[in-house]
Amino acid sequence: MAQQEDVFKKIVSHAKEYGFVFPSSEIYDGLSAVYDYGQNGVELKNNIKRYWWDAMTLLHENIVGIDSAIFMHPTIWKASGHVDAFNDPLIDNRDSKKRYRADVLIEDQIAKYDEKIAKEIAKAAKRFGDAFDEAQFRATNGRVLDLQGRRDALHERFSVAMNANDLNELRQIIIDEEIVCPISGTKNWTEVRQFNLMFKTEMGSTADGAMTVYLRPETAQGIFVNYLNVQKTGRMRIPFGIAQIGKAFRNEIVARQFIFRMREFEQMEMQFFVRPGEELKWFGQWKEWRLKWHKALGMGDEKYRYHDHEKLAHYANAATDIEFLMPFGFKEVEGIHSRTNFDLSQHQKFSGKKIEYFDPELNQSYTPYVIETSIGVDRMFLSVLCSAYDEEQLPNGETRTVLHLPAPLAPVKCAVLPLVRKDGLPEKAREIVDELKFDFATHYEEKDAIGKRYRRQDAIGTPFCITVDHQTLEDNTVTLRERDSMEQTRVAIADLHKLIHDRVSLASLLRKLR
Ligand code: GAP
Repeated sequence: MAQQEDVFKKIVSHAKEYGFVFPSSEIYDGLSAVYDYGQNGVELKNNIKRYWWDAMTLLHENIVGIDSAIFMHPTIWKASGHVDAFNDPLIDNRDSKKRYRADVLIEDQIAKYDEKIAKEIAKAAKRFGDAFDEAQFRATNGRVLDLQGRRDALHERFSVAMNANDLNELRQIIIDEEIVCPISGTKNWTEVRQFNLMFKTEMGSTADGAMTVYLRPETAQGIFVNYLNVQKTGRMRIPFGIAQIGKAFRNEIVARQFIFRMREFEQMEMQFFVRPGEELKWFGQWKEWRLKWHKALGMGDEKYRYHDHEKLAHYANAATDIEFLMPFGFKEVEGIHSRTNFDLSQHQKFSGKKIEYFDPELNQSYTPYVIETSIGVDRMFLSVLCSAYDEEQLPNGETRTVLHLPAPLAPVKCAVLPLVRKDGLPEKAREIVDELKFDFATHYEEKDAIGKRYRRQDAIGTPFCITVDHQTLEDNTVTLRERDSMEQTRVAIADLHKLIHDRVSLASLLRKLR
């Protein structure tokens, strides 16, 4: 675990050193849980968004996109339930004056039991070797049985408390489990209180009577309130979807793990409107499609798992997360929710406007049910970065830091490097750049020894380096170096476009989703 924490620290500093992610307002000592994307980060982020957007809108003829405003009529958040219920339970430690989410403290405690059990199993597996039977060990080992029993009892008590919104019980669990503040080490806890996560601001001048408006905490409501507009103007027939990418804002109590939990972040959400009664079929379908989208990136199938929700929001009849194995464990990257007709019905009620669909096949009107897929751009970015980061031991004893980014997502697709800064090689290299730059993000670099330039490109994950040498001037060939294998092949300049395109095009990735 400690080793993984070190790796994560290295990833965070690599992200800064190579222009992927900077702390916001850094020269003013930063702003907690807010980050800026640098010159390479913005390209990687845009490529992730394009992959999602095209997978939704190009591959599904019944999904269209919108881009709704961040400010919305405040009653929308009343209707959606966010004003009354978009809360986290918070607790303070009186000694350290630090604030925590009570539910996260308890979840961490459950994870500690899981870790202890995993340690016992790993120890036994080592002791017994090939003869080890994990199922039998779990069923018979006294220490594991005791830990598992305590873990399950805690989990059950926690679920009941959360479902009942019982803040006193959450506090009591923290006391009974003897959970201490990681900073002060004490159990001097305050009461648990609800804390609304929405940011508020004022719209209009006070003389006119300013109105309190919210920074949207999710993009989904912009889709719901435009349902009728899109359905009518696009002549959409159920089932159909509306996709949107945009910023969302949450005043998170505990900002943790770099860009994993931010106060300003970006979401890619799609609401799929279906017939009542067909929602669970579509929920299953979207679970499968979304996992396939993740796995097509080739970051390792074993790094994903579903986490089906036991505690469902009152409006949902099924929900699951797609979790990715980050250096700090399996964590939610995307949520897939069957939201029934809750949101549309609420907007119908609060706006007084009829929001229904006339189904010509059934010859009846109804309020559509909704399957939502909701993924955080920044969490996706983090999963790609963590999975790509590698410190590779080379046969010559050196270490190279390389980002094995999926080639279609890489910020720079190829770098053109003249071997030396003379003899007409820079000019020839510039000619190649001037051809490739129309289709690929292309870098030109002539400073430093060639090996050093390769390393710089490896560090930002550039899939190809093209080296122009003296032979190039004679026969119009270059060496093409592939990032992961570091293999160099001599290829004709005329073939470069196709060779690069085959590896880096988004279309090649999208074809895997067929
Ligand atoms: N409309 C449904 C919705 O917003 P959610 O589970 O609250 O559902 C969806 O959020 C996704 O948004 C999450 O799976 C996560 O990837 C991302 N997300 C949520 N809060 C975030 C935060 N504070 N920082 C970064 N990403 C966040």
